[in-house]
Amino acid sequence: MIPVTNSIKELTLLQPDDWHIHLRDDQALATTVPHAASSFNRVICMPNLVPPVKNVNDASAYRERILQQLQSSAVDSDRKAAFDPRMTLYLTDNTTAKDIEIAAQSGIVQAVKLYPAGATTNSADGVTDINACVAVFEAMEKYNLPLLLHGEVTHDHIDIFDREKRFLEDILGQIIAKFPALKIVMEHITTSDAADFILAQGNQVAATITPQHLMFNRNHLLLGGIKPHFYCLPILKRESHQKVLLDVATSGSPKFFLGTDSAPHATDQKEAACGCAGCYSSSIALPLYATAFDSVGKLDKLEGFTSRFGPQFYGLPVNETTVTLVNQPMQVPTNYPYFDGSTLTPLMAGETLPWSLKL
Ligand code: DOR
Ligand code: ZN
Repeated sequence: MIPVTNSIKELTLLQPDDWHIHLRDDQALATTVPHAASSFNRVICMPNLVPPVKNVNDASAYRERILQQLQSSAVDSDRKAAFDPRMTLYLTDNTTAKDIEIAAQSGIVQAVKLYPAGATTNSADGVTDINACVAVFEAMEKYNLPLLLHGEVTHDHIDIFDREKRFLEDILGQIIAKFPALKIVMEHITTSDAADFILAQGNQVAATITPQHLMFNRNHLLLGGIKPHFYCLPILKRESHQKVLLDVATSGSPKFFLGTDSAPHATDQKEAACGCAGCYSSSIALPLYATAFDSVGKLDKLEGFTSRFGPQFYGLPVNETTVTLVNQPMQVPTNYPYFDGSTLTPLMAGETLPWSLKL
């Protein structure tokens, strides 16, 4: 457990937004939507459904399903009113500049997500040749639609721990050079290489950081037995990278902001011979981030990361509601009911966190 300084007892923040979340679809929404709505106003919903969210019609139907679930869930009425799912399109080899124009004009698509084909869960329809995306990137630049990146190369011969670094070197630098006005978010960064790279770019390039990459490293995943609930992609790296991520997240730089990458998979799909990638954190994300920031005595920097820098990057106002965290321990549930009788095991299941949400 990360040591806590215990200096502040209560912390009221402008309501955070989650700029990267997987809510999944259909029955999964009954679990994921109330959890997300309990902490966040705007959530950027990842499009890697089966089949993916490829156009405005898919995005608008998906948003309706999320909102319908919200209405029938036992969520406080003020949280129901504040919750605002924002949609993303899944970039494929067949996405056209016209699709981007329609998306930009729809008012419901906030960004476009690029998964290199095969990089992670449900990415089989992702982009196989980024060089073929020129017209699409030009259109995104023109319509000011941000590009969200799963920043890992996928070649079989590249070591899993080097895939993010290679993406920066081989791909991201070229995209930025060719499309200097394109807004880009390198999602869920995991390395000091990515942190340094982002710091060296202009304000149009930013990064999200997950709670697991701030709090854990590959020793937590692999020492003393494999811990499948720490397995996500990009994979946890060595401790020196974790430290740099914590440094930049708590530095007050507006280039780094909250994106949980909360990615639900049923417990039996995680605890399997070939376990799925993804950590589920949405329900406890704010206590997790508070614990991470408190561990380095930087709670004063939490609100910028959770609630100010994301809207600033996206050109949106900060939220008007607030949330209060208290320095009172909470026990993370061992699991939540999920659909078809399955369960969902959150990050740090059964463990005690020093911070909790004030009810
Ligand atoms: O660990 C991950 N899980 N990383 C991703 O990029 C996708 C996500 C998922 O959808 O399960
Ligand atoms: Zn993700």
